[in-house]
Amino acid sequence: MWPSAELHVHIEGTLEVPLLLRLAERNAVELVSSDPEVLQRRYAFDSLQSFLDLYYENLAVLRTEQDFYELCSAYLERAARAGVRHAEIFFDPQSHTERGVPLGTVVFGLSRAIGEAQERWGMTASLILCLLRHLGGEAASDMIRAALPFRRHFVGVGLDSSELGFPPSLFQEAFAIAAAEGLHRVAHAGEEGGPDYVWEALDLLGVERVDHGNRALEDAELMAVLRERRIPLTVCPLSNLALKTAPDELADHALPVMLDEGLLASVHSDDPAYFGGYLDDNIAALRAAGVLTEEQFGVLAANSIVSSFASAERKAELL
Ligand code: HPA
Ligand code: ZN
Repeated sequence: MWPSAELHVHIEGTLEVPLLLRLAERNAVELVSSDPEVLQRRYAFDSLQSFLDLYYENLAVLRTEQDFYELCSAYLERAARAGVRHAEIFFDPQSHTERGVPLGTVVFGLSRAIGEAQERWGMTASLILCLLRHLGGEAASDMIRAALPFRRHFVGVGLDSSELGFPPSLFQEAFAIAAAEGLHRVAHAGEEGGPDYVWEALDLLGVERVDHGNRALEDAELMAVLRERRIPLTVCPLSNLALKTAPDELADHALPVMLDEGLLASVHSDDPAYFGGYLDDNIAALRAAGVLTEEQFGVLAANSIVSSFASAERKAELL
């Protein structure tokens, strides 16, 4: 197992069914069923939106600081077993504040787990605050302003949720506020949206990393820019299979092409509770597909560390 950095994981997407059931009971939230098999069977999707509908439904069980702490601790423990030595974890504050959960509750719970990561699992970790596209640009700007008092708890800002119809151009003000605060900037682009979404993320939001980016391969000029500027792509193979944003067979995934084209691609897990696995499961599935050499797995792991926002010292330690 190569030491790796996990750069594309949504903490709300690590909510496994047993914890979902436990939190529902603790917080008296009614689920559609109390049978774990029935709940697990719902984790089947045909598009990004079909997944997001369930993801937002389930995260309603997260209510207290302790809930967020337990969710994040469970993820970190599992990630350490997957060979993750550094994690940059997305969270979706609007999905919680909209339900009346204060931002501090979310941030303090997640931060407490992250604060213990070094001692408990020998891992470094940080948070990236993601803005929800489907709520629009103004809500995104309001969210980032509201989050500034918690600035020391996160290292960057990201953009996620429903992609089609919500291009990066709508979020320029929010990302300008983030840039002025010295926050790192990343965005989901090219998952379902075309290369134009990736162009906008680069040119209008100034992102340093592109999450997914698969559809960038449709545009040779864009590929040249990504290669020359060493813009990382955080690729999520099992997510692509589950959401049908890639061919049905992992053997036909674009990842080997990305590497052959000299792009700075790395492998990540996205929403591991929903898509069939953590970082090690993604690597095992790629290995079983037989389209990458052992040397290329080493390159992917090194790329993940190089692409991270960890300090130069931490990167040197992990490479
Ligand atoms: N794509 C977009 N938004 C998301 C995802 C995803 O895979 N997971 C959680 N929010
Ligand atoms: Zn994602």
